[in-house]
Amino acid sequence: MSAAARAAVLSLLVATAATACGDEDAPADGPAAIPSDVERVLVDRCQPCHSDPVTRYAPMPIVDWAQVQEPTPTDPALAVFEMIELRIASEGYPMPPKNSPELEAFTDTEQQILLDWVQNGAPSAD
Ligand code: HEC
Repeated sequence: MSAAARAAVLSLLVATAATACGDEDAPADGPAAIPSDVERVLVDRCQPCHSDPVTRYAPMPIVDWAQVQEPTPTDPALAVFEMIELRIASEGYPMPPKNSPELEAFTDTEQQILLDWVQNGAPSAD
């Protein structure tokens, strides 16, 4: 085998190995996931209403990561996660809403988990 051919074979092997590694590290096929600590808060404190389909007059689902990136119903200039930041910190119009059992149960730690996430741009778990 010529030196050139050996080099070609070698680079092919390296390329194949790199591709194989890349595949191992890649996220499983399917939609991007919400980080699990955030997911737990959403399930307990938001999805009782912001389910998919919605209940209790909530305007949009907050279930999938992709839904959180979409424009929020009342302001197309903001993504849902940006509106989440405004509402969970709101005194007058908090989320969960006033007089709901979910607000009653909402802890400072849970609020901080959501705030940290949305202030970071609501990254996916991958
Ligand atoms: C008891 C039901 C209920 C729960 C629980 C609840 N929401 Fe809501 N949410 C609503 C309703 C109803 C509205 C529409 C009225 C309003 O904006 O106040 C709303 C509106 C919103 C909006 C405003 C959307 C827009 O475009 O104006 C955001 C953001 C939001 N909720 C986020 C959350 C988050 C985050 C949680 C959990 C921490 C949560 N909500 C928990 C019922 C709920």
